[in-house]
Parts: sequence; C-alpha cells; structure tokens
Amino acid sequence: MLLSSYLILTVLWSVRADLFSKATRSKAEEKDIRNSVFDFIIVGGGTAGCVLANRLSAISDWKVLVLEAGEEENIDYDIPGVPTNDFRPILWNYRTERNGFSCLSRPGGSCEVKTGKVLGGSSVTNDMKYTRGSKKDYDAWHLNGEIGSLEWKFDNLLEHFKNSEDNGDYDVLMNSHYHSRGGEMHVQKFKYADRYIEIFLAAFAEMGLRSVDINTNVPEAVVNNQFTISNNTRLSTNSAFLKPVRHRKNLVVKTGVTVTKIIIDPQEKMTEGVMYTVDKGKEQPAYAKREVILTGGAINNVRLLHLSGIGPKAELAKHNITTLINLPVGLNYQDQVTTGGLAFTLGEVPAVSESQVIDDFKTWFESRTGPLASRGINQVSAFIQLYENKVAPDVELNLIGNYLRSDKFMLTNISIHTAEEINMPLPYYNLVVVNPVLLKPKSTGKVTLNKRNPKFGRPVIQANLLKESDDLDALVDSIDIALQVLNTREIKKSEIKLAPIDLFPCDRLRNRDQWNCIARHYTKAMSNPIGTCRMGNNSSNSVVSYNLRVHGLERLRIMDASVMPTHVRGSIYAPTIMIAEKGAKLIFRDWQENKGSYYNKR
Ligand SMILES: Cc1cc2nc3c(=O)[nH]c(=O)nc-3n(C[C@H](O)[C@H](O)[C@H](O)COP(=O)(O)OP(=O)(O)OC[C@H]3O[C@@H](n4cnc5c(N)ncnc54)[C@H](O)[C@@H]3O)c2cc1C
Ligand SMILES: *[C@@H]1O[C@H](CO)[C@@H](O)[C@H](O)[C@H]1NC(C)=O
Ligand SMILES: *[C@@H]1O[C@H](CO)[C@@H](O)[C@H](O)[C@H]1NC(C)=O
Ligand SMILES: *[C@@H]1O[C@H](CO)[C@@H](O)[C@H](O)[C@H]1NC(C)=O
Ligand SMILES: *[C@@H]1O[C@H](CO)[C@@H](O)[C@H](O)[C@H]1NC(C)=O
Ligand SMILES: *[C@@H]1O[C@H](CO)[C@@H](O)[C@H](O)[C@H]1NC(C)=O
Repeated sequence: MLLSSYLILTVLWSVRADLFSKATRSKAEEKDIRNSVFDFIIVGGGTAGCVLANRLSAISDWKVLVLEAGEEENIDYDIPGVPTNDFRPILWNYRTERNGFSCLSRPGGSCEVKTGKVLGGSSVTNDMKYTRGSKKDYDAWHLNGEIGSLEWKFDNLLEHFKNSEDNGDYDVLMNSHYHSRGGEMHVQKFKYADRYIEIFLAAFAEMGLRSVDINTNVPEAVVNNQFTISNNTRLSTNSAFLKPVRHRKNLVVKTGVTVTKIIIDPQEKMTEGVMYTVDKGKEQPAYAKREVILTGGAINNVRLLHLSGIGPKAELAKHNITTLINLPVGLNYQDQVTTGGLAFTLGEVPAVSESQVIDDFKTWFESRTGPLASRGINQVSAFIQLYENKVAPDVELNLIGNYLRSDKFMLTNISIHTAEEINMPLPYYNLVVVNPVLLKPKSTGKVTLNKRNPKFGRPVIQANLLKESDDLDALVDSIDIALQVLNTREIKKSEIKLAPIDLFPCDRLRNRDQWNCIARHYTKAMSNPIGTCRMGNNSSNSVVSYNLRVHGLERLRIMDASVMPTHVRGSIYAPTIMIAEKGAKLIFRDWQENKGSYYNKR
C-alpha cells in the first residue's frame, strides 16, 4: 500500500515535471545557447574566482561566465563574532583518510577538511586574517635559469598584493613599501579589545616577541591581527570584488551549478569549454572562445581534472578514464596542521545572559558595533621562529575563545571535544584554546577520485599529516614555547591557568612523550590545502607553468591556492588573492598586449 502510493506519487511528479519542461524547454534552450559562448569561463566563484571575475570583466569586450557550485552569500556570514567554519550547508565537508599515525582519536580516525561552498568560497568561511607569508618561501619557488619563475619572487609580487589592498590602519600603512590603500579589499584591525586581548598581547611581549606588522618579513612577532573587514563586517572576495560589478552586462554569474568536465579537443589538445549540471541533473555545455580558468580550490580542481582525463595515468586507469595528458595532478597535497589539547581557563568570568547576547546582535545589525564587531582572543597571534637561520616564523600560536557552562567547569577534566566545540559567539569566552599551527609542514599527500562515485563523491584525501617526524618535533617544540606564557608575570597576576583537559589515551605519559601522543591523537587539519596543481617547468613534477597554463594543453589555466608549490609560512587567503591578481595580468599580457599571439603561433 505504502509502496504503491509512493509509486503513484513519483509517476505523477515525473509527468508534471515532463509537462513543465516541455512548456519551458524551447525558451530555456534558446537562452542557454545565447549565453553559452563566452570569452572566459571561470570554474568556481571562490576566493580567487571572484577577484578574477572582476578583473576580466573590466574589459567590456570580454564576455565572462562564472560557475559556482554553492549559493549566494548571506548577511548571516558577515558577523565577525560568529565563526562560519562549521556552517555545513556552505561547506564541502571532506575528511582525510585514516592512516594510523595522525588524527587517531578524531571521529573515524580521520581529520575534517572543510572549505567554502558558496559564492566567495573559503573567503566566506575562513577567519579573515590578512597574512601574506614570507619572502624567503616565495623566493624558493624560483628555478634557476627559468625566466618565468623570476616573476614569482617576492619583490615582484608585492605590487600584486598592493594592487587590491585598502589598508585602514595608519601605523601599518606608514610602511608604504609593503602597504597601500585604495584597492577593493579593506584590511583593518578590530577596534574592540577586551581585557584578555590586552593580557595576552602583554604576556607574549614579555616573552620577547615584538609587536610588529607580520607582513614585513619578520621572523617573530606578537600581533593584533589585521582582518579583511569593512565597517566591522566580513569582506569576502565576493563582497569586495564581485558584488560591486555584478551589473556589468558582459558578466554572467551562475550559482548552484557544478562543473563536471572540461571539454577538450583530444587531437588539438585544445580546451573548448565545460560541462556543468544543476542538482546532478542533465549536463549542459558552455563554451569559451579564449580560455577556461579553474579556481575550484586545491581539492575540487583535482576531481575535475581527473574526470576530464588530466592526471596521473595509472590513477585514471583505475576509473577507466582515458588519459589525455599525463600530469601529477593531485600529488604534492599540503595542508597546515595543528593539535588540540592545549587550553587555558580564565578563572572568574561573569556569565553572559541570553538577553545580553540578543541585544549585542541587535547592536551589530543596527550600528556594526559592540562585542560582535570583534573576534575576541582570535585577534591575537604569536608568530614564533623555532630554528634559526631563517627570516621566517615556523609556527603561529592561534588563539580561539570558547565558553564553557559552569557545570562543565566543575569537571576535573574537560574533553578535547568540549574544549573545541564552539557554542557561543567568539567574543564571549572563559577558555582560551591554543592551536600551534605549523606554517610550512614537510609532509605531503595526495588527492584522488572517490572510488564508488568519482563524479560527486568526496575525493579521497591522503593528507599524511605529521608523516614526517620533523613536523611532529616542530609541533611539540612549539607547545613547549606556548606553555612558557604561563610563567609570565602578566598571566600569573591574572587567574589564567592550564585547563584540565582529558588527554586519554595520553594521560599516563609525561612531557615530550605525552605531547607526541596528543599531537598524533588530536591532530587538526587547518583546511588550507595547496600544491595539487603546483607550478613549475617540468611536466613530471608540476601541473602548470609559471604562466599558470596547464602543461601540454591550450587555453586552460589554473589560478588559485592549488598552484602554490609550498606553503609560505603564513596563511593563504591574501596569497590566493595575489595569485588571481597576478593571473589576470598574465591574461592581459597574452590577449591584449600580445593579441593572443601565443595561441595563434601554432
Ligand atoms: C576554517 C578556515 C579558516 C581559514 N582562515 C584563514 C585566515 O584567517 N587567513 C588566511 O589567510 N587563510 C585562511 N584560510 C585559508 C583560505 O581562506 C583558503 O585556503 C583560500 O581562501 C582558498 O582559496 P581558493 O580560491 O583556492 O579556494 P576557495 O575559496 O575554496 O574557492 C573554490 C570555489 O570553487 C567552487 N567549486 C569547486 N569545485 C567546483 C565545481 N566543480 N563547479 C563549480 N564550482 C566549484 C567552490 O564551491 C568554491 O566556492 C582558512 C581556511 C579555512 C577552511
Ligand atoms: C573498467 O572496465 C573494465 C572492463 O570493461 C570493467 O571490468 C571494470 O569494472 C571497469 N572499472 C570501473 C571502475 O568502472
Ligand atoms: C556601518 O554600518 C551601519 C549599519 O548598516 C551604518 O549605519 C553605518 O553608517 C556604517 N558606517 C560606515 C562608516 O559605513
Ligand atoms: C575524565 O573524564 C572522562 C569522562 O568525560 C572519564 O572517562 C575519565 O576517566 C576522566 N579521567 C580522569 C583522569 O579523571
Ligand atoms: C626547467 O628548468 C631547468 C632549469 O632549472 C632546465 O634545465 C630544464 O630544461 C627546464 N625543463 C623544461 C621542461 O623546460
Ligand atoms: C623533470 O624533473 C625530473 C625529476 O624531477 C627529471 O628526472 C627530468 O629529467 C626532468 N625533465 C625535464 C624535461 O627537464
């Protein structure tokens, strides 16, 4: 009975759907054809994609299409005090594979990897910190004798950082070698600072860290971070770069569409367009006269390239995909890594009432002020150099506030899960979780297609976090340093103490052995993936050239965090914006200054 009525319903529904589509089909098709030949197609309206959409559509003769799998951005994501990195509907919820040496006590023995699936991509779900990384690491991307790689030396990249920068802090802006104003991306420190922000800034200063701008190639610093905010509101690359130009007639932005394949002429090795789908339905083509540009991020780019026959031959063969170009796509995966287990309790912090929080939300919506116009202790970072001879930090102590109910505080031991699960906006906290983030890990991994459902299933991420023993050693060394903050006068005179965390199964161990154990069990992936489509000059160990063109293929480029060969000992939001800026210049050079001669010469 139940089954048959279910069947009737589905049949009725499909008839209706069919009638509906017949009535609308011709019109819809007409519209699609009219819209579907573009000069450039940008796959992924994320951090880099939105910047690129702005730059390319500034040329009114160029018709630009942006295809984004997620939906439009929403004001709920804009409140600085409310972290968005757990808003599941706007995330690609991925996990690393079990490996027996890291993430051991995380659910399923694997770590979560969550990047943004929304217009603006991870710039909507990230922490908004503006750090550029270190000259030394950019300079190491250079290959002797390879002229194109000279352009990626730090001194030559500064202009691309500054191009979109609108720095709002005069003390930072004074250094005009590094900073500028007038660009699309407003960058600023939060004005709101509570008592504990002052205490931790002072405590790290007491440990010898200077309060300087971390974006000036210094090895160590205690910083009151700059964030990509404007009027105490999140500025994603969507709100900074795309929204202001959505009216352009030559720009088409489609949300809720997933690109499933790159259309390539197999003989000419020429990119012609892409196939995309709405709700995993029928696939439709869109064509590009000039170029297709991938900005889907370091994980999703791999899936799309593999599905299109671009990747390691042996890997594609497992899925019966014919290899068009044998390239190491998906190898050289790198993510920054940290560990749970270290937290400080703040002692007597007055409880905040529900009505107070509601009032604070009203205040933020009305005037963009109040506690929610801040990120609490997350505003403070300490950058630490563990080993000498480098002008760059190895670790960032990333602080996050959390609020535990008083009954939880009565426990003699707090589970790591309780310590990490955010249940209040960031500015209300009585616990400070300290995550020592390894900024340039040595471990590398790889991304491959899902075995059962290559097209839509979660890609397989073998992150290999902490595989290299140097990475584990560096994390544990940095915990030693983080613990020293407890010995400062500043912390001692407040009531801040080491939080009693339940460290099972590491509770019986002591000192270094204990922290080694904790790091292996409570590993955290930072979800800052890079490297899977790294640039270089050799198709056996890189995917794109220094001009960001895919080796061996015409009219396909990649322009996001996936092209970074290594981390740059900072985070990667500002670097990704820079890569898009630089990428736009490369396109202008080829298609405007040189009139597409690169492409015509063959
Ligand atoms: C929780 C968190 C906090 C972070 N905090 C910071 C920070 O404070 N500072 C910092 O510097 N960095 C931070 N990062 C890192 C940084 O924000 C990102 O790594 C960076 O923005 C990545 O940019 P991207 O353009 O490579 O990819 P994304 O911004 O992730 O964009 C990729 C886009 O492509 C879309 N897409 C993918 N595949 C397809 C497809 N097949 N079809 C259609 N669309 C597709 C996606 O939906 C997405 O919108 C953080 C990251 C996370 C996850
Ligand atoms: C690949 O093709 C072979 C032979 O046609 C078939 O036996 C196998 O199941 C296919 N594998 C996949 C992953 O589709
Ligand atoms: C900030 O936003 C609030 C709320 O929308 C608005 O009233 C105020 O004028 C804005 N301030 C500035 C400087 O833009
Ligand atoms: C800590 O608490 C957990 C329950 O949350 C309990 O299983 C464990 O035995 C406790 N450990 C200690 C050392 O008290
Ligand atoms: C890559 O660059 C090196 C110089 O570092 C050069 O010797 C080599 O021939 C280049 N390889 C290719 C494929 O161009
Ligand atoms: C590419 O690099 C590999 C090793 O990384 C080397 O064996 C090979 O000769 C290089 N190829 C070219 C064309 O430079």
